[in-house]
Amino acid sequence: MTADRRQAPVPYHTGAFPPQGLLWESLIPQIGPAAAAVARYDGMLAAVPNPGVLLSPLTTQEAVLSSAIEGTQATMGEVLEFEAGQEASSPERREDIQEVLNYRSAMREAERLLVTLPISQRVLRAAHKALLAGVRGQSKAPGEYRRTPNWIGPPQCLVDEARFVPISAEQLPDGMSAWEKYAHSDAEDLLVQLAILHAEFEALHPFLDGNGRLGRMLVPLFLWQRGMIRQPMFYISAFFEARRDLYYEKLLAVSRDDDWTGWCGFFLTAVQTQAEDNLKKTQGILTLYERMKRELPELTRSQYAVRALDWIFERPIFKGSSFVSGAGIPAPTARRFLKLLRDESILQDLSPASGRRAAVLAFPALLNIAEGREVL
Ligand SMILES: Nc1ncnc2c1ncn2[C@@H]1O[C@H](COP(=O)(O)OP(=O)(O)O)[C@@H](O)[C@H]1O
Ligand SMILES: [Mg+2]
Repeated sequence: MTADRRQAPVPYHTGAFPPQGLLWESLIPQIGPAAAAVARYDGMLAAVPNPGVLLSPLTTQEAVLSSAIEGTQATMGEVLEFEAGQEASSPERREDIQEVLNYRSAMREAERLLVTLPISQRVLRAAHKALLAGVRGQSKAPGEYRRTPNWIGPPQCLVDEARFVPISAEQLPDGMSAWEKYAHSDAEDLLVQLAILHAEFEALHPFLDGNGRLGRMLVPLFLWQRGMIRQPMFYISAFFEARRDLYYEKLLAVSRDDDWTGWCGFFLTAVQTQAEDNLKKTQGILTLYERMKRELPELTRSQYAVRALDWIFERPIFKGSSFVSGAGIPAPTARRFLKLLRDESILQDLSPASGRRAAVLAFPALLNIAEGREVL
């Protein structure tokens, strides 16, 4: 018997969902602070005049980080430059960027459906279809459950080298029905219910690909639908991305050791940490917006100052020419604004104009808040 003998793959925990033996006494001390942090963040959301616009960099950043957990390399800067009309640096990177853009479309599709529907298999399948649209996802049956086994382990591994083998394709429909029934139930606590829903969704692994991303989208969607937050905006993935191995290990321990309590504790820590981080970033963005709303009219002496501000907040990386033609500001005024904002270092050149290529500009203050560090 050698120490490096491979462990047999852990199979799906048949019969152990929903969990019966949660150790509430160990979770309760975490539930209060996590729920309070979410409530404080929600209070901040109430103060944001147009969250769809002001928080859009955070939404993009979430799509980037959730996609990065399983290896997508594109950065937020690359995604925003691509949206501004720049070519991707390689075909591979172009596909990564498409996955990130799909992530945002999938969220929007789910949000649209959840206005009238509960969180359900139908909504998940519709979101999956949007998530896997396009070249890379096409072979992965967008919008359809798998009809074959799948397994989780090192890239390209064989099934007996896997760490975890999800529920069989035959049992999957029943597994998803049980998941949906639990999603609609009135469980003891919403955050614990959400923790369990995420882990169970990952253990079922209903799709050929995209299960991790969909399971993480569930976090803002569920919090929103159950009234814990007033907008479908909650950014969970930074926590898991920074602790990927531990995240996978905690999920594995659910099936291997029936350790639902350990998973729920980890998830509650993630929710609390991210609620605090989301609050800080939202506060930072709002403060920046309000300050610029005071300063820009003075600087430009123009009635168009706030229109320019809103346009730039929605697109913190953009082509100068798009601003001139698309911001709804008379062109000479728009050009004067760009020069002023550059001179004041509010905007920065990412790539200068050359020949027929328009200059690409960035708004560093906003990007740095979204990234949580100095990127520009
Ligand atoms: N042992 C495990 N048990 C259950 N789920 C796991 C385990 N390890 C990893 N996962 C989940 O599987 C996801 C990867 O599945 P995949 O379908 O490739 O999703 P995506 O393509 O969205 O990253 C991880 O992000 C994680 O959520
Ligand atoms: Mg994947």
